[in-house]
Amino acid sequence: MKIAVMGATGTAGSRAVQRLKARDFDVVEVSRSCGIDLVTGEGLTDALADVDAVVDASNVGPSDDPRKRRGAVTTATRNVVDACTKQQVSRLVLLSIVGIEHPAFDRFEYYLAKREQEAIVENSDLNATLVKTSQWHEFATNPAAVTFHADKVEVQDWLVQPVAADAVADVLVQEVLKPSNESRVLITGPEQIRLPDLTRRLLDARGDSRPVHTTEPYFLELKEGVLLAPAEARVVGPDVEGWLSTVN
Ligand SMILES: NC(=O)c1ccc[n+]([C@@H]2O[C@H](COP(=O)([O-])OP(=O)(O)OC[C@H]3O[C@@H](n4cnc5c(N)ncnc54)[C@H](OP(=O)(O)O)[C@@H]3O)[C@@H](O)[C@H]2O)c1
Repeated sequence: MKIAVMGATGTAGSRAVQRLKARDFDVVEVSRSCGIDLVTGEGLTDALADVDAVVDASNVGPSDDPRKRRGAVTTATRNVVDACTKQQVSRLVLLSIVGIEHPAFDRFEYYLAKREQEAIVENSDLNATLVKTSQWHEFATNPAAVTFHADKVEVQDWLVQPVAADAVADVLVQEVLKPSNESRVLITGPEQIRLPDLTRRLLDARGDSRPVHTTEPYFLELKEGVLLAPAEARVVGPDVEGWLSTVN
């Protein structure tokens, strides 16, 4: 079986690639650094020749211009769906985020882009599954909510229930290897935590003594847990302590 991973060098994509290779699957790695551009479409259709299934764990930019980024995400997703259709790829698993449907995000360009990305995939004729996860433990340093300065670290006060990127990759691999019987799989971690606490614990584990300053989030709802997964989400470990024991 031949599987293509979009975003093969990213946090989630690289973990999916590693797992698939360890199981001896033929893996096509897709990213600009691998010579394939999802936004321009350069090299994409050719790369999917003889591919049976695709994991889309890409995260296209630019990150400094939310409007342009939204356009890039939707263009890239249309290009992925079109290339899959042309090459008769039978299965597509798209990585996305839980909670983005909430009206609080109706003017939040990145989550609007993710909603549009989900709709393009769900409205296609592909055998598709969305894997929607809560924030990852690795989000503890994500520039979307965390700003590093020489003498302090500022972290927005989001209430999250993080899941490890390794666990997300395990689920992506499970899903891409089986025919779709669920159109959406929701994943979260075992433990709720405020993002500044998560960042603090990670910095402690790394021996970084910079103070963590809590800042107001983009929206009040983030503080109240708008991005927590619904009760039906699958809970996958490790918890924060278990994850910290694996990072350096
Ligand atoms: N972080 C979280 O907590 C979280 C939670 C839930 C869901 N997600 C979702 O998970 C997905 C992956 O996130 P991530 O943090 O793993 O991403 P990431 O580490 O930023 O990696 C992004 C990947 O996309 C590739 N890429 C970017 N632009 C590209 C282009 N034009 N053409 C081809 N490849 C391109 C990058 O490679 P090149 O730069 O070499 O092109 C890289 O391999 C995103 O859709 C995100 O919304 C994230």
